[in-house]
Amino acid sequence: MSEKERELRSSGDHEGGYVEWFREASPYIHRFRGETFILVLEGALLQEGRMPALAHDIALLSSFGIRLVLVFGASPQIDATFLTHALPTTRSGGRRITPPEALGPLMESVGRIRFEIEAALSQGTDGTPMAGARLRAVSGNFVIGRPLGVIDGVDYLYTGTVRRIESEGIRHHLDQGDVVLLPPMGFSPTGEIFNILSFEVASRAAVALGASKILLLGKSPELRNERGEALRQMVLSEAKLRDQPASRPLAVLFEALEQGVPRLHLLDGSQDGAILLELFTRDGIGTLISRDPFEHIRKATLDDLVDILAIIRPLEAKGVLVRRPRERIEMELEHFIVTCRDRTVIGCVELIPSPESSMAEMACLAILPEYQGEGRGEQLLAFCRSEAKRRGLSRIFVLTTQSSRWFMERGFVKTGPEILPKERRTPYDPDRKSQVLLTEI
Ligand SMILES: CC(C)(COP(=O)(O)OP(=O)(O)OC[C@H]1O[C@@H](n2cnc3c(N)ncnc32)[C@H](O)[C@@H]1OP(=O)(O)O)[C@@H](O)C(=O)NCCC(=O)NCCS
Repeated sequence: MSEKERELRSSGDHEGGYVEWFREASPYIHRFRGETFILVLEGALLQEGRMPALAHDIALLSSFGIRLVLVFGASPQIDATFLTHALPTTRSGGRRITPPEALGPLMESVGRIRFEIEAALSQGTDGTPMAGARLRAVSGNFVIGRPLGVIDGVDYLYTGTVRRIESEGIRHHLDQGDVVLLPPMGFSPTGEIFNILSFEVASRAAVALGASKILLLGKSPELRNERGEALRQMVLSEAKLRDQPASRPLAVLFEALEQGVPRLHLLDGSQDGAILLELFTRDGIGTLISRDPFEHIRKATLDDLVDILAIIRPLEAKGVLVRRPRERIEMELEHFIVTCRDRTVIGCVELIPSPESSMAEMACLAILPEYQGEGRGEQLLAFCRSEAKRRGLSRIFVLTTQSSRWFMERGFVKTGPEILPKERRTPYDPDRKSQVLLTEI
């Protein structure tokens, strides 16, 4: 053990961090079990020799019960093989033109990558992260292709497009726990071979298999804003505006989202552990493009109970919120509203209507500390206002000991306990000295 490792192991911080990370990761581990992910490995990344390290993370995903389909690109490798065979590389509209004499070198490049991936997935020496992994990778004629044909007067020859994905065959292997490899090729019923864009294979396979995610591992594939900063999350419509169709065929992957695949993650595959950091931490490290909004406010369900308790218990311990038994929160869950980020609850509020007094009480307003100060509290308040209005109520009140300023800056005014509705279940506790604040809506 190195000096550094010893130091880290002996430090409580390190152990605490490790345990905390594991706990943060566990909801994702449970959630992803049985889901199908399409991993797209760009040829440029494989050319850098990243596969052995990536294989460790792929093995871990598979051991968590995630059904994996690996689609790989081979563009730079094909270019290099063409060069050694003195074949010119001709492209039109961003697509390679594949003449018949190029098929041999093409199979040579793609075949070599396939074997390299299979070799990397076969690692399992004791003392390595893949010890005992026993991954089985399978490949086959799962992509049925047809020629792209002549477009704008250009004949693409053996460059093809996907005609259909043999999803039943792939599913059969995924059911056995196999990792399915899909090369950037397709086969026709007449026995011909076509070179197909890996993104198209991935997109069509994701739709055909009902995948829940496509993860693109490339070299800096993230989308960026005007200042060149990487953008972390966006919805599909925004991502479409950000993408430069001429330089990258991401549009093909966007089609999968339009056809029902919920999420596309763009990751810099040269970063060690990129897949794990993206999938098992709340904020991830890449660009997440979702078909639906990433963060939203909605009514709570029973599944949110644990998350709600995790948010409010520390505040109860500090005396910021009044302590309530779990059973009471469970009974009142129908009144809770939550802010969800990537399916995890990061904020909550309870809105209890008192129709006889035409009022609603707002309680338990809380946002996880790491997400405070970005307007989420205000958004929950706005949601409560419109929800109360929708129910025909005209005022909202709140009891608070430490946040009266926050409410007053948002239109609440101080009043007294005498305004509290008769039907309110909990009597006012004079010892707590809560301030009663009221706002018209
Ligand atoms: C109060 C709370 C819900 C606000 O959520 P939020 O998402 O951080 O709120 P917003 O981003 O909309 O507002 C942030 C602003 O409120 C201010 N603020 C936060 N807590 C405050 C408090 N207790 N009193 C006064 N101002 C406060 C912040 O300083 C920030 O001000 P700035 O914009 O001038 O920097 C959040 O801070 C929280 O969970 N606090 C602990 C629980 C709590 O006190 N709940 C209310 C009890 S009923």
